[in-house]
Amino acid sequence: MCGATVVSWRVNNQEQLFVSKLASFDGKKAIRGGIPFVFPQFGPWSFGAQHGFARITRWNLERPPERLHNGDVEAIFSLMDNEFTRSMWNYQFRITYRLILREKELHFHIGVYNPSKELTMTFNLLLHTYLKVPDVRRCQITGLHGCTFMDKTRNDAMYQEGREVVTVNEWTDRIYQHTPQEHIITNVVSGRKMRIHKYNFPDTVIWNPWIDKAREIGDFGDDEFPNMLCVEAGHVSSPVILLPGTAFEASQILQIIIEGNVSRK
Ligand code: BG6
Repeated sequence: MCGATVVSWRVNNQEQLFVSKLASFDGKKAIRGGIPFVFPQFGPWSFGAQHGFARITRWNLERPPERLHNGDVEAIFSLMDNEFTRSMWNYQFRITYRLILREKELHFHIGVYNPSKELTMTFNLLLHTYLKVPDVRRCQITGLHGCTFMDKTRNDAMYQEGREVVTVNEWTDRIYQHTPQEHIITNVVSGRKMRIHKYNFPDTVIWNPWIDKAREIGDFGDDEFPNMLCVEAGHVSSPVILLPGTAFEASQILQIIIEGNVSRK
């Protein structure tokens, strides 16, 4: 499975994730949409591709999807260092990515292990979640009020969020720091509410390329920006520092709390 990118999540037959109609699935580049796994770098990287190699590397399917006693469906993927990863980042590592599907919920549990006896490693980790929304301008995101953010659309200047709920009405690319464990995203158009619950992900990135930037992205349709909103739980404004022989764990739960009134497509 290339990139371990979750490309679809349906609740009551309603798709929750955005995937561009121009997305490429050839395994050579990251899939434009769904939930790409960003590791070990967030953003441009002098050693390899932007956002690291995990989203363009073949992962192992450790445990194919299986129904558990309680009705949940679980699948486990893993990624270990190999020649390709070491050519960019010369560290040993083992990542376990456990996905659990439950009614109206999708859980992501990540473990990164550093098997080295002497090398400490530092990395970024982020789940680049592309939500499918009826109209991004009419989405509200809670949990950002008072948080400091780096605005990548303004030369990385730092600001503090003054709004109780954040809406996106222009090119937006912000790294909010020390965000709370929970965000609620409301689609005002349909009334649908989704909760993002995160653990050990101190940052939340909000991204939408808007009109001009969308045109610059080859695998993104010019007219698609109103229908996506990236809300990305990550550990990116400071790196994870992982000592030899230790593991880092983080998780995210997406949960539909109100389905809203959406026409079925
Ligand atoms: C976001 C970044 O997470 O990902 C943006 O904050 C970036 O700066 C966007 O443009 C998309 O990145 P990519 O590599 O998938 O085109």
